[in-house]
Amino acid sequence: MIKLIQRLKEEKKAVILAHNYQQPEIQDLADFVGDSLELAREASQLKECRLIVFCGVRFMAETAKILSPGKRVVLPVNEAGCPLADMVTPADVLQMKKKYPGAVVVSYVNTSAEVKALSDVCCTSANAVSVVEKVPAKQIIFLPDRNLGWYVQQRLPEKKILLGNGYCFVHERFTVLEVKTVREKMPEAEIVVHPECKPEVQKLADGVYSTSGMLRRARESPARKMVIGTEVGLLHRLKKENPGKEFYCLGTAKICPNMKKTDLKSVLEALSKEEPEIRLSEEVISLARAALERMLLFV
Ligand code: 13P
Ligand code: SF4
Repeated sequence: MIKLIQRLKEEKKAVILAHNYQQPEIQDLADFVGDSLELAREASQLKECRLIVFCGVRFMAETAKILSPGKRVVLPVNEAGCPLADMVTPADVLQMKKKYPGAVVVSYVNTSAEVKALSDVCCTSANAVSVVEKVPAKQIIFLPDRNLGWYVQQRLPEKKILLGNGYCFVHERFTVLEVKTVREKMPEAEIVVHPECKPEVQKLADGVYSTSGMLRRARESPARKMVIGTEVGLLHRLKKENPGKEFYCLGTAKICPNMKKTDLKSVLEALSKEEPEIRLSEEVISLARAALERMLLFV
């Protein structure tokens, strides 16, 4: 199957992009693996290819389409969504805007294209603090992740962040008890967590990072053991890129079922049929693109 995928990919001038949470065989097959920000940047810079096979969840494939509208973008599994992204609707954004007319809307990239189209600027977990810092307004409507919003508020007390009430059910499963247990049993390990984790978990960790931030920290940290409070899929790259170090999941392995829906069979099928394609209206693309491009210009 891998050989077939590689042959088809060449024939069709396709590029395979994959998120850090994808299954190991998909990560190993991809032309580029990264976090949401790196994948958005990569999609905006692709020149030669005609077709993008996006191995991740819907909002990421939509982002690739918005930033590369001339290319065909396919998401191998149509049902690979992100429940966090579904926690804010365009109607919610309009309501918040009406309630706080002077505020600037910063939406997490984990949102639908329609929500992005109503936002002033987007951010990812890797650049949320620097985006909000640069926004020329004190009042910020931050949607939808309440934990990432809390993380940003702690670092920018001069801003007034009006929080959405969304959360990632995968990251919310990390607990204070899991952090305390690791501290007791493995005191030499460094504990890093994603900003989608609850505030009480973030407070106890040694560092809070996006998935690319964790990969960087793993390379730079003097610690030989690292425990990660994020989706288990990141372990693959951490281990591959740091053979002399040990990596563990914080508590039980936390799995994002949507990220795991993509497999070799669905990638092969998506490549051959060029479906399911991401289709967005021209208007949504152009409005959402402005919010994403502002983010890419800011950081
Ligand atoms: P990153 O941008 O850190 O890769 O996170 C994406 C995501 O979906 C986290 O759950
Ligand atoms: Fe969405 Fe959470 Fe899965 Fe990330 S880990 S894609 S935020 S459900």
